[in-house]
Amino acid sequence: MIKIAVDGPSGAGKSSLAKAIAKQLGVVYVDTGALYRAVGLYILRSDIDPTDADTVTGQLNNITVELKFVDGVQRIYLCGEDVSEEIRTPTVAKYASDVSSIGAVRTFLLDTQRNIAATTSVIMDGRDIGTVIMPDADVKIFLTASAEARALRRYNELVKKGASVSYDEIFSGMQQRDANDSGRAIAPAVPAEDAVILDNSNYSEEETLAAAMKIIKSGLEAAGKSI
Ligand code: DC
Repeated sequence: MIKIAVDGPSGAGKSSLAKAIAKQLGVVYVDTGALYRAVGLYILRSDIDPTDADTVTGQLNNITVELKFVDGVQRIYLCGEDVSEEIRTPTVAKYASDVSSIGAVRTFLLDTQRNIAATTSVIMDGRDIGTVIMPDADVKIFLTASAEARALRRYNELVKKGASVSYDEIFSGMQQRDANDSGRAIAPAVPAEDAVILDNSNYSEEETLAAAMKIIKSGLEAAGKSI
């Protein structure tokens, strides 16, 4: 089995990269952020303050979150409902970031992630994959880029979709999420000691993929595995 961890801040391009690698290697791609987004969505729909750790923790008994793979593509189910599209809004992203700093939420989602990692060859993306979920991963990549580069990509993406947004608004939201995700006490988004840091501020998607494949090839060789 092959296990690849991709961590890093929001907007670095983890999911595009991990998807492309999964395709090349024929392994399952798991987007763990979707799990936190599903919990965030439940809390949003319940009209609960996502920073109120006790109330959020008290709701966990009412929540079921499942990942299913349809033709190799991940779908996420919240209490039996497919919410794969609904979790992609900026409001849900903010709720996800808030609930992800609550210890009980992280524990609640741990087994789902570890069970997948234990049973299949995977490339998993998130914030604590190399440090907590798959500390034994064959290859760990910490994908990062400057906040300016990440905000500009997100801005261009949204403008292309016809959204009316300002760069400044996106940049400040990005900085806020970075501080939240990397500054939190539990499982902060920091590179594992044995992760390879890949800064793609000045790379295209193709260049990022080529650099990552190089890292993966040498990591797998070192682990005595081949692709
Ligand atoms: O990758 P994303 O933007 O979909 O993640 C949503 C939020 O979930 C993000 O703000 C941080 C959190 N998260 C986390 O704490 N640990 C993970 N493994 C994945 C995501």
